[in-house]
Amino acid sequence: MNSLVLCGFMGCGKTTVGKAVAKMLSREFVDTDEYIEKAQGLSIAQIFEACNEDGFRELEHIACSELSQKNGLVIATGGGALTFERNISLFKNDIVIFLDAPFDEIERRIGGTDTRPLFRDKAKALALYNARLPLYKSAADYTVSAMGDSSRAVNEIVKIINARNIGVK
Ligand code: S3P
Repeated sequence: MNSLVLCGFMGCGKTTVGKAVAKMLSREFVDTDEYIEKAQGLSIAQIFEACNEDGFRELEHIACSELSQKNGLVIATGGGALTFERNISLFKNDIVIFLDAPFDEIERRIGGTDTRPLFRDKAKALALYNARLPLYKSAADYTVSAMGDSSRAVNEIVKIINARNIGVK
């Protein structure tokens, strides 16, 4: 069974939505950041401090590689993971969904938090968002709006998966 892979910018709700989708579809849920944190015994912020973004991207690639070898998971990827071709290609046989939220909404959700090293400077985060948007869209098989209550995105994703299972386009 294909895995279902959620991508999108920080704060778009990949983890919240992914957990709920996994529950509704009775599948195992994995968050790549949590997977890396568990393997390293360090938080994402600590990993960035210890080995910079490049070091984190290597660990992220290893995580994607390991998880892509499993079947039937619901995977919430970190916001940068599916902007790299080497990670996108690992999930070519899976179903990739882009959770789309405008930058203003993302800033409203996570602007005041300090756990994301790449969201500490608003102007830089906005530039990153604009650069990544086309990458998410081209990596994804489906785009689902992340606006409103998370249950709206969850229901839309479950509908997509159920329709695929019975061969409806
Ligand atoms: C990152 C997003 C984070 C985490 C790391 C880098 C990014 O994950 O992987 O801080 O490059 O956008 P979330 O999207 O879950 O916040």
